[in-house]
Amino acid sequence: MIRVYPDIEALSRGAAELFADEARRGVAARGRFIVLLAGGETPRRCYELLAEAPVRDRIPWGAVHVFWGDERCVPDDDPRSNAAMARRALLDHVPVPEAQIHPISCAGAPHEGAVAYEGLLRAFFGDGPPRFDLVFLGLGENGHTASLFPGTAVLEERERWAAEVYVAGEGLHRVTLTAPAINQAALVAFLAAGEKKAAVLKEVLEGTADPRILPARLISPAHGELRWLIDRPAARLLRHEA
Ligand code: 6PG
Repeated sequence: MIRVYPDIEALSRGAAELFADEARRGVAARGRFIVLLAGGETPRRCYELLAEAPVRDRIPWGAVHVFWGDERCVPDDDPRSNAAMARRALLDHVPVPEAQIHPISCAGAPHEGAVAYEGLLRAFFGDGPPRFDLVFLGLGENGHTASLFPGTAVLEERERWAAEVYVAGEGLHRVTLTAPAINQAALVAFLAAGEKKAAVLKEVLEGTADPRILPARLISPAHGELRWLIDRPAARLLRHEA
């Protein structure tokens, strides 16, 4: 399902409402809500709105469990850290128990960081698959999502839930969840905003490119739902948005 909002503010409100609705539903049905957060700039406003009334007050924060889709292998308080961004924008301002916040830690040791995060996820989910209630993802201009970058070995991964990847343009390793792990989610919501995303969004949604070239095309929940929350500038080139 594709939902087009007039601008990033409206998109962010829509994403925050989605989080709140799914959190209430998850907690009512299963006693907890398991969310996977995205990095990048696009979700920042959504995270801020989640920390503000009225949305904040609708969410049963004590039953929320937070994971991340990817992380740069930098110290935990580095401004480039996705977890640090989410803490500043959201988690520092809401009563999620610290023991339920699970950042990816990989500074200096990408492979060990990936193995450790997979171990943490396997312990959390027990014998089952990583059934996140809600996954937020972003979309890079080169078609990457989480840290599933075009042409990297991690795209071929079938068994591991988390893996390390070297991002040459950044000179940094990252740890990312793999596509098979993300695809176990009940609901995956991509957030994409701005004119700069229009071309890649058209390719991802309407093109036929190999997912090794456009990794966002690997995301297709096996037993769940895929939604795109986009703004009008990003939707500009889509067939139905002319
Ligand atoms: C990250 C990501 C990445 C991001 C896209 C889009 O940490 O960078 O998880 O996949 O979502 O690069 O980033 P923007 O939202 O900044 O455009």
